[in-house]
Order: sequence, then C-alpha cells, then structure tokens
Amino acid sequence: MTAPETTPEQIAQTLIYPYLNHAVKFLQDEYATAADIDNGMRFGCGYPAGPLAYLDSVGPGMVRDALAARYAETGDSLHKPVALLDRMADEGGTFHGNAGSSGATVPEFKRDITRVGVVGTGTMASGIVQVFAQAGYDVVFVGRSQDKLDGVVGYIAKNIDRAIAKGKSTEEDKQAVLDRLAGATERVALADADLVVEAIAEDLAIKTELFSDLDALVKPGAILATTTSSLPIARLAASTTRPGDVIGMHFFNPAPVMKLVEIVTTPQTEPEVDETVRALTAKVGKVGVSCGDRAGFIVNALLFPYLNDAVKLAEDGVELSRIDAAIKEQVGLPMGPFELLDVVGNDVSLAIEKELHAEFEEPGLAPAATLERKVAEGKLGRKTGEGFHTY
Ligand code: CAA
Repeated sequence: MTAPETTPEQIAQTLIYPYLNHAVKFLQDEYATAADIDNGMRFGCGYPAGPLAYLDSVGPGMVRDALAARYAETGDSLHKPVALLDRMADEGGTFHGNAGSSGATVPEFKRDITRVGVVGTGTMASGIVQVFAQAGYDVVFVGRSQDKLDGVVGYIAKNIDRAIAKGKSTEEDKQAVLDRLAGATERVALADADLVVEAIAEDLAIKTELFSDLDALVKPGAILATTTSSLPIARLAASTTRPGDVIGMHFFNPAPVMKLVEIVTTPQTEPEVDETVRALTAKVGKVGVSCGDRAGFIVNALLFPYLNDAVKLAEDGVELSRIDAAIKEQVGLPMGPFELLDVVGNDVSLAIEKELHAEFEEPGLAPAATLERKVAEGKLGRKTGEGFHTY
C-alpha cells in the first residue's frame, strides 16, 4: 500500500512503470511498430519521449526488476513484466523506440481531396475545422443550430487572435482561414465533400445514424472518417453500404496543437483510402500513426490506464497536487494526470476506461471509484468549472 509520504520518485515509478510495460506488450503483440507507439505518445500527448525510448534510457533491467517486485506484492497481471521486457532485460538489448519511420513508404493521394466536410461543433470538431482550413482546404461544417456554427468560428478566431498577439499570425491569414469556412445546419451541404470527418457525440446509436445518413448523402468515392476515441469503427462502417471508404482519423485535444492523428483501419478499409488519409494527415502538418480497430487504439490504451492508476493512488491518500507535480518534475510530461483528466473531461475519460476494461478484461483496468463519482456529481473538468481541480 502506498503511504501519503511517498516520494516524487516513488509516485513516478508507481504510475509510469506499468505504462512502460504496457507499451512493450503492444510491441510484443505486433499491434503497432516501435516508432508508431513512441510517436503516438510524443505527438498525441506532448511527451518528451515515447515509452520505448524512455525505457531504453532508464534501462529495461531496472524497470523489469521494479515491476517484478511490485507484481510479487500486488498479484496484478498489469504489473507482471511482459516476456519481451524480460528478454530485453536479460539480453541487455534496447527497443529503439523513437528511431526510424513507421516502416511505410511516403504515402500518396490515391483519391483527390479538395473539399473537406466536418460534422459537429464541439471542441474536437472546432479544432479539426481549424486544422483543415489552416492547411488551405475549403471546409463545410455542419451543426445543429446557427449559434453552434457561430461558436466554431468564434473558437477559431480566438485561437488565431492569440497567435496574432504573439506575432505568429496576421489579420490577413486569419481572414483567409475564416473565408474558407462554410457552416451549415443541413447535412446535405456535405454532398460534394471529398472527405467527411465526424466529431459528434461518443454514442454508437447517434454515430451509426449519422453514418447511414452520410452514406445516402455524400457523393460516391468520398471518404467517411470518424474521430471516435472509444467506439468500434467497424460498427460505423457496417451502417453504410461502403465500408471500404470508412476509416478512423483520431485527433487529440487540443487538435490545432497536438500533432498526432491515429489512422485506424478496419479489415474492410480499402488500402487506397488508408493511403490517401495518411497523405492528407501529412499534408495538414500532422504526424500519422497506423493501428487496428481495437479499444483505445495506441494512445488512449496506454494513457488512460495510467490516468486511472493516478486516481487510485490519490484514493490511497496521496495528494493530487503532489502527483501532478511529481509526474511533471520526474518524467517531464507537460501536464500532471489530474490536470489532463480535467482537460479531457471526466465523462470522456470514464467512457474510455470502461471501454478498455470491457475489451481487455483486466481487473486492474476497472475505472477508479472516484472517477465514477466525479462524473455522477457533474464535476467533469474544465468544461464545468470543476473536476479534480477547480477553475
Ligand atoms: N486551442 C488552440 N491552441 C491552443 C490551445 C487550444 N485549446 N491551448 C493552447 N494552445 C496553443 C497556444 O496558443 C500555444 O501556441 P504557440 O506555441 O504557437 O504559441 C501552444 O498551444 C502552447 O500553449 P501554452 O504556452 O499556453 O501552454 P502550454 O505550454 O502549457 O501547452 C498544451 C498547452 C499544448 C495543451 C500542453 O499542456 C500539452 O501538450 N498538454 C498535453 C495534452 C494532451 O495530452 N492531450 C491529449 C489528451 S488525450 C486525447 O485527446 C485523446 C482522447 O481521445 C480523449
């Protein structure tokens, strides 16, 4: 049991070592390449190094031994060093995390993309609209009311105003970006889009209804993408007559800043759709990583068990602010776990953790009771003014 007087080093090891172990398991399972695992955490969450490069720098032997000792104490299979970590520790090998490319050749556009559509007006949708418009694309975005459409324009204008204040943008650039935006309250406005990205509510029924509608409305040959973080993309594809055109483009929050897009293919996604989306991701200045249609993809499956463990550590009596500080100081992450939970939203985090727990069936992945309570109390994070911290 972890005592409240736990040192910053102990807090960091308690939370980070299982995350490193988990990353090695992804490599061992061949779910993603070492470069994509590391790039995921670097560009999705702003980490200074990916987990495999970090392991190389700390030394696999030290991490393996610490985990083995912890496993002997907890019996939690998430603490048991995975076979590949054990082997690296014994052989004195390294994972070559950040090194190298994802192994793929430079992607080319196999389908023309000139007009982009976005469905949704929330934080993620607004950020995604900004990303495409700043990259020079005309963007049609669809929301449920004029107020919500105005909110998207306001969000983008505010972001660019901040950049102007810092001397990183100009009024002319801002006007050019705003001129590329066309808001609409009817989905039929998406009919001519070459690619539509949806970022609406994380609810399977709501998203399948949307996909079947997009299937009927959007021109043949268009790519239908989702930025879901927790729903099976194959289920969305199955609600269309063109599952080969359906793909995941998972952006990170805040989308204009975080450079990562997880490109998620189902067994039915056409290779030319995958390649076009990889080319588009690079063209809009993002880093794409490829992975299969599995709960949490790369980043959330590594990130959220760590965030959940932080909540459990706080339940053991360690102060939130000490945990946040330890992670920033000891590991150099840009935000502590509670600061990040408040940015992501406790409702979103809980949904992702439930999804991971259901898919991987690890008792250690059960959502922390405090997280459930925060959501029940409506303390969702920054968006409600209070989450783990108060704003
Ligand atoms: N929208 C647009 N731009 C923003 C922004 C926002 N909401 N917040 C900050 N920025 C910009 C700032 O304007 C600034 O831009 P410049 O560098 O061009 O000047 C830059 O981001 C840095 O901002 P700040 O200096 O104000 O603040 P910071 O250095 O603390 O950085 C941060 C803020 C980029 C968000 C940083 O704290 C960070 O990287 N945090 C980690 C966020 C993270 O892990 N996100 C992933 C969450 S998981 C997820 O999204 C997946 C899911 O499915 C839930």
